[in-house]
Parts: sequence; C-alpha cells; structure tokens
Amino acid sequence: MQMHDTIESLRRALQSVRQCGQRIVFVPTMGNLHDGHIALMRQARAHGDCVVASIFVNRLQFRPGEDFDKYPRTLAADCEKLVAANVDHLFAPPEHELYPTPQRYVVEPPPEHADILEGAFRPGHFRGVATVVMKLFHIVEPHAALFGKKDYQQYLVLSTMVREFALPIEIIPGETVRAQDGLALSSRNGYLSPEERREAPRLYRTLLAVAEAVRTGDHRYAHLESEAMAQLSAHGWQPDYIAIRRRSDLHPPSKTDEPLIVLGAARLGTTRLIDNLEI
Ligand code: PAF
Repeated sequence: MQMHDTIESLRRALQSVRQCGQRIVFVPTMGNLHDGHIALMRQARAHGDCVVASIFVNRLQFRPGEDFDKYPRTLAADCEKLVAANVDHLFAPPEHELYPTPQRYVVEPPPEHADILEGAFRPGHFRGVATVVMKLFHIVEPHAALFGKKDYQQYLVLSTMVREFALPIEIIPGETVRAQDGLALSSRNGYLSPEERREAPRLYRTLLAVAEAVRTGDHRYAHLESEAMAQLSAHGWQPDYIAIRRRSDLHPPSKTDEPLIVLGAARLGTTRLIDNLEI
C-alpha cells in the first residue's frame, strides 16, 4: 500500500493509475477502522482495479462540544488493517494539507435533507460532511465511492449531492456490519464502558421490534416511535429520535406501500449511538 500525506503525492500516483485505464474506487473514512470499514474496502475491490482509502478526522463536521478532540486516532493499526484488506493507496493528510486556510467555501446541502433527524441534533454536520467529501472527490477523482448505510442520512445527502452536481462518480452503499449481539459497528462503540456495551444492542433490538410491527401491518407510526423511545428511556437511554421514514428522502411516509426505514439515535451515558433498519 502506498501512503500519501499530500494532495500532490496522491494526485501524481493516481494519474498513472488512470493512464493505465484502471477504475479507481474510493472509501473515505475518519479512521479507527473496524470490520464495517474493512467490509467496505473488500466491497470496493470488487467494484474496481485500484482501491483508495482516506483517513481524515474532519473538524468541519463536529460541533463545538462534540468528540472531535477525543475521536480515536489509530493510524498505525489502521494501516495494518488496510494492508491486510489489499488497499492500494491511503490518503491520510494532516489538517493543514486539506484545510490550508480556513475553508470558507462550503457545500450547503438542502435543509430538507440536512436539517432533519441527525441534522436537527447536529446542526451544520452535513455541511461539514458534504464539504470534505466534495473536496476529497476533487482530489481523488474516483470512478466510484462507497458509504456505509449505517449512516443512512449521510449516504442520502452524498448521493444526492453527486447527482445534483453531475459528478461522474458512482455512489455504492455498503451494508451495516453488526457484532454478534446486533450492535452496529462504529468507532464510537469504543467509548462505551463494559456495562454500557452490554446494554448497547438494545437500540438495534428496539428498531427491530418497530420494523417487525410495521411489516406486520401496524401503521400507527407515531405511536410505535414514542413507544420505542419510552422503552429506551426506561433502560437509562436518552433517545434523540426513533423515526419511521421513507427511504427515498427520509421524510414521513404518506402512503403505506413505499419503501420505509426506521432510524434511531440515542445517548447511552455520554456516548451517542445511531442505527437504522430498512423495513
Ligand atoms: O462516515 C464518515 O466516516 C465521515 O462522515 C466521512 C464520510 C469520511 C466524511 O468525513
């Protein structure tokens, strides 16, 4: 695996890759890689000839008081995993390389995608995500890029951004990878105490029960959502939302025959977890 910490070095390497006619597939990450990321790398390999990963903890997508400073930075261990996953190039720039002056030009996703659900609790989050991904796309110029569906709203925002800017990049979703007890893998799981880790799969089980109820014909969505939130609260969680939404735009369903998804976000102690299930 070739490592690059400057834009110039990565561009130079990828220029010859492109000249050979190879298809470049890109997996952007913030590092602290787990099996969910590695599954994306392996999926990327099946979609192209040259797999490029990035590791960059993007300050722009964290709000003041969030976990930007304590976000785990584990570059050496990450590199070992990427080599084992057969990744060809890693772009891991220092902050001043990607944001040499304050980044004043930004990508502002539309409020109907960015200010709901996660965006309502983390204002500006998707502006930060869209801005860094747009910048990474201009640096890597991939043919395709992969994003995990655990961050379903991010996947929706970024695939819409690519479509509306007519970027020639195929956006490929990756399935959520779960621990044996159902907990969706996430770098933030590492913040959980052993006791919290045992409790954490309840978010998944709660979403599963909602999805099952909807599948078996219960259309009392508001009731199901508030019951699920009450369940979590009763077990010491502080839920932000449990929401049954249309998969296409994450807005409340208007008919009973459209593809749905149930999404949840809740705090367990000081750790905020998110998850979702397609129904
Ligand atoms: O999903 C993530 O890890 C980040 O939001 C991303 C897409 C790498 C942008 O910083």
